[in-house]
Amino acid sequence: MNDSNINNIPEIYADIAQKSIDIGFNMPSDLYVGTLLKTLVASKPQGNFLELGTGIGLSLSWMVDGMDKNSSLTTIDNDPELIGIANQYFGHDTRIKLICADGTDWIKQYEGPLFNLVFADAWPGKYSETGQILDLISIGGFYVVDDMSQQPNWPEGHEDNVQGLISYLEKRADFTITKLDWSTGLIIAVKSF
Ligand SMILES: C[S@@+](CC[C@H](N)C(=O)[O-])C[C@H]1O[C@@H](n2cnc3c(N)ncnc32)[C@H](O)[C@@H]1O
Repeated sequence: MNDSNINNIPEIYADIAQKSIDIGFNMPSDLYVGTLLKTLVASKPQGNFLELGTGIGLSLSWMVDGMDKNSSLTTIDNDPELIGIANQYFGHDTRIKLICADGTDWIKQYEGPLFNLVFADAWPGKYSETGQILDLISIGGFYVVDDMSQQPNWPEGHEDNVQGLISYLEKRADFTITKLDWSTGLIIAVKSF
């Protein structure tokens, strides 16, 4: 599989990808996790979705493409400049809530409905507050993380964080997990009870 086999790319994606290059955003997600997110989101009509780590909206564009008109999505980033740019692309869509906040604070304060899918693409919800975020997923809902395979940009010792997350997920009896050699190495976990 290479990039040219992925043909369901959101219309807005090329603009956002160019903007990422223009502003030097160096943590973009790739097409592979994008297409998977769109597929999983599409499996949850009238879904309630959460993304931790908006960036400027690359993965968000895929998730939005998979949503039906009665779904809603909350996306969080602690960088006001990035949220400002994402807002230019998605601010008109009333299904989407773009929030500039620290992910840890946001997770601790959240009291709304459970989520049908969480894409945890920032430290909070992935390497911290993992238990809390998993508790916010509804039965049958997905927890998705990428960057699980060794990446050239990992800081020294990061493999311990990744191994810790994998071990934690494997111990959660209420989640069924699959590790995928796809994109940057993904884990999909489904809440089963
Ligand atoms: C891997 S990038 C997200 C990439 C994005 N999902 C995409 O598709 O391009 C991680 C993001 O998390 C944000 N971030 C880092 N620490 C955070 C925190 N404590 N709370 C919320 N967001 C945070 C960064 O500003 C960055 O945009």
